[in-house]
Amino acid sequence: MRLRIFALGAILLSGLVNSRGGHPLSPVDVLSSPGGDRLYVACGSGQRVLCVDTTGIQVDQEIMFDHELTGLELSQDGQQLYVTAGGLQGSVLEIDTETGNTVRCLDAGHTPMAPQLSPDEKTLYVCNRFDNDVTVVDLERGETVARIPVVREPVAADLSPDGRLLFVANLLPSGAANVKDAGAVVSVIDTTSRKTRQIPLIEGSTGVRGIKVSPDGSYAVAVHHVAHYQVPATQLERGWVMTSAISFIRVSDLSLLYTVLLDDAEQGFPNPWAIGFSGDGNTLVVSSAGLNQLSLIQVPELFEKLKLIDPQDPQAVAVLGNDLSFLSGIRRRIGFNGVGPRALAVVGNCVYVANYFSDSVDGIDFSFAEGCTLFNGSLGPDVPLTDERRGEILFNDARDCFQNWLSCASCHPDARTDGLNWDLPNDGVGNPKNAKSMLLAHVTPAAMWLGVRADAETGVRAGLRHIEFSVRPEDEARCIDAYLKSLHPVPSPFRDRETGALTVAAERGKLAFETVGCAGCHPAPLFTDLQMRDVGTLLGRDEGRLVDTPQLVEVWRTAPYLHDGRAATLGDVLGSMGHAGISKAASGLSKEELDDLLAYIRSL
Ligand code: HEC
Ligand code: HEC
Repeated sequence: MRLRIFALGAILLSGLVNSRGGHPLSPVDVLSSPGGDRLYVACGSGQRVLCVDTTGIQVDQEIMFDHELTGLELSQDGQQLYVTAGGLQGSVLEIDTETGNTVRCLDAGHTPMAPQLSPDEKTLYVCNRFDNDVTVVDLERGETVARIPVVREPVAADLSPDGRLLFVANLLPSGAANVKDAGAVVSVIDTTSRKTRQIPLIEGSTGVRGIKVSPDGSYAVAVHHVAHYQVPATQLERGWVMTSAISFIRVSDLSLLYTVLLDDAEQGFPNPWAIGFSGDGNTLVVSSAGLNQLSLIQVPELFEKLKLIDPQDPQAVAVLGNDLSFLSGIRRRIGFNGVGPRALAVVGNCVYVANYFSDSVDGIDFSFAEGCTLFNGSLGPDVPLTDERRGEILFNDARDCFQNWLSCASCHPDARTDGLNWDLPNDGVGNPKNAKSMLLAHVTPAAMWLGVRADAETGVRAGLRHIEFSVRPEDEARCIDAYLKSLHPVPSPFRDRETGALTVAAERGKLAFETVGCAGCHPAPLFTDLQMRDVGTLLGRDEGRLVDTPQLVEVWRTAPYLHDGRAATLGDVLGSMGHAGISKAASGLSKEELDDLLAYIRSL
């Protein structure tokens, strides 16, 4: 399919029938109809699916929902659209594309996303991001028939063409961070036996946003960061701190074959996110959500080059993992107008990109050397950019970072933690610290584990200067502050699904939290008394210093724990790795009482 209409410059695709109340649309997923004449765009905060007619280039249908949308899947005949909608008690809505009506609503878990339809269209798989599992829905019965655990924050998935294996991208590493070999894994579910296998990506892998199986079913490709957390973060040159990569997993034996870098020697390809294949499998498309570019990789040529590398030879694989010129000559980087390309659909020689921040869709024909813009279309009339939104864009944006290597969101995905330690020079070197979540950072001074910044405002400005190596106007830092202050906690998956209230066990744990003495240092509502203290946890170069008492809201999602990420789980914090003598206090508790205490802190 080839579009014939060439309309350069932004065009308005839609007048939007339904008001958006000044809110952005925030498109998060895009799919094409089987013939390529229609695109379906799921809008997150816009709570709607917009259908774009690609021949007339306009939005011709708008389907409204009551919740934030997170993902889309389409039946092969284009008749049924499956839309995942977020929240503590998530759901999948089956939509008749002809009428736009909801045919049925299926149950899913916490923040369901990345729906995948089996080739026989009898089963739907949905990743539940905050339940760390995958729901299997029997579509004939309209029921959940299994929940299969994966590792941590599954955000993307793809089925092999025969439907036998489901590849799931776990966004974040799990486990302690003060160890060698920290990194994220890909989970593979055998859809017949429902058994799962974990495939570790290379050391430092985190931020696994996309995964796709090649059209011939021979390998799966995951897109992610590779964090060089072992070295002090003192410079960005040549990917010193962080690189972006695609990892190839062979489907026949589920082995990780190669990890190829997406950056160039003097320019990063930051925050790699969406991935797609052309139908013939010859072009692999990856978006950089931090730089608003696409990488178009020639797959046959790539494999010709990879053939020369023995995946069993650790040295050869290590050289490849650091080679910033491997893709030269076989990859084109294409820039376009949209901001925040987080989803893409490839149809023939065209790629359609949905842009989270500019509320727009770009159509690009890549049969031309430089890529040719078909259209750059706004999905609705502009809404005024608030300081919060501008701050969110800046937080995710690597355009002003030195050589575009990273953005704040590279280590603070969704303004939380990437699950890794970093040796930032802010408190000296050789004493790595676990990346912190930004939630409540502005109301819990001091900032940084050892309180080396007076407050989060100072931390934000230090981050711009010393991590992105850029000098930026005060106004931008002010907007980042506004964004971070506007963050809301995500309701804990450990709360009652219907009411969002504490469970009975957590209510009992709440009492223990007060009687055992936790509340002395972690008093509600912030769960910190804002004091710096020595609780017997600081070692090595940090011995004799004081640590800031952390707040505990959303602690269920910020593993690993303690300043150096030594505790993989909250159980570890209460157990052998306790602090402030709590393991002693906790050892007076029965197993049930401890479980209740855990249930409580997991609910915050
Ligand atoms: C290379 C990874 C990395 C990048 C990139 C990064 N940070 Fe951080 N950030 C960290 C780590 C690690 C910590 C904890 C450090 C410590 O406590 O000493 C942290 C802590 C913070 C804190 C303190 C929060 C608190 O409650 O104490 C703020 C604020 C912050 N970062 C803001 C930013 C901003 C703004 C940017 C972008 C300009 C940014 N960070 C980019 C790794 C990173
Ligand atoms: C004397 C003050 C004090 C008491 C009492 C105390 N804490 Fe803490 N807590 C801290 C400090 C300080 C840290 C940070 C330690 C570090 O990172 O090395 C911390 C860290 C934590 C963390 C890790 C948070 C994170 O983001 O990594 C959890 C969870 C926690 N405390 C829970 C509890 C519970 C549950 C109790 C009661 C059983 C308790 N604390 C008692 C001061 C205290």
